[in-house]
Amino acid sequence: MEGLADDVLREILTRIPGYDHAVTEFARVSGSVLPRRAFTRLSPELNNGSRTSSGTPVRVQLLGSDPECMADNAAQLVRCNPSGVDLNFGCPAPTVNRHRGGAALLDEPELLYRIACAVRKAVPSHIPFTAKMRLGVTDTGKALDCGRALADGGVVELVVHARTKTDGYRPPAHWEWVGRIADVVAVPVVANGEVWSEADYARCRAVSGATHVMLGRGAVADPFLAQRIRSGAPADRDAEWATLGPLLVEFWARVQDKVQPRHAPGRLKQWLNLLRRNFPGAEALYQQVRPLGDVAVINALLASHGLPVAPHTT
Ligand SMILES: Cc1cc2nc3c(=O)[nH]c(=O)nc-3n(C[C@H](O)[C@H](O)[C@H](O)COP(=O)(O)O)c2cc1C
Repeated sequence: MEGLADDVLREILTRIPGYDHAVTEFARVSGSVLPRRAFTRLSPELNNGSRTSSGTPVRVQLLGSDPECMADNAAQLVRCNPSGVDLNFGCPAPTVNRHRGGAALLDEPELLYRIACAVRKAVPSHIPFTAKMRLGVTDTGKALDCGRALADGGVVELVVHARTKTDGYRPPAHWEWVGRIADVVAVPVVANGEVWSEADYARCRAVSGATHVMLGRGAVADPFLAQRIRSGAPADRDAEWATLGPLLVEFWARVQDKVQPRHAPGRLKQWLNLLRRNFPGAEALYQQVRPLGDVAVINALLASHGLPVAPHTT
């Protein structure tokens, strides 16, 4: 998730078992072939067999509107041996949509088809080629056509974020539309949107009929959700929070290695802000970190919570 779940958070979240795979933020394709380093910067996992250190495969996502250029970039990406190549037809950001990218293309199923066909030719069959779509730009009138276009264009799996672009990230997610799309395509359809808990997961599967679910913000807010979905065990927030402590510390150390000091606190606040939905300890920490902008002051605060920060070494 662009600006939220980057390589640092993927690395930390996949330490907790439960995920089949992760997907990168989108690489924006516009007019030229990105250098290999653009892909390895977005997904350093490419230097590790396209897996996080715990072994979770990481698919790399492309966003753009020109079929040939998307295919050329997919070919370049394929040279980096990604665990998968994914196409983004879900991003609602105005800056992206203005340049004909993401969810703005959902009015043009024919273009989706041409993009998928072109990229299909560039991605060998042993690498999963997938796409993610919303239900439409302002309404669901073309949702089935978009699903068909991507499936006919050769994707082997389709993720449906069950909202339109105009819906943004506002609840509810219209899971019934995932099933409607699945009814008209021959590829597996994965349901996505507004799954924050085991109960949401169960309802999402029941309403959509989908076997598989993709977690978005729910995975960041509740890092143990995928694990509990698999195990069926109830949440033990105290034990989970204790496990999260060292992971938070490592996240914070890695963030400091990656971004400039003035940007680092924002990343910690962003994660705590989602975690506090589930963890009272995160709420307390968030309230204390929120006014702080200085890395050293935050380090001292974390140490006072029994979370001493040491520079990470990998
Ligand atoms: C900050 C943010 C950034 C996102 N960036 C991406 C992205 O780069 N690629 C993508 O496919 N989806 C992206 N998404 C969408 C999520 O993957 C997911 O489809 C959406 O949030 C719905 O799922 P959720 O309700 O479980 O979060 C982003 C969402 C958020 C909130």
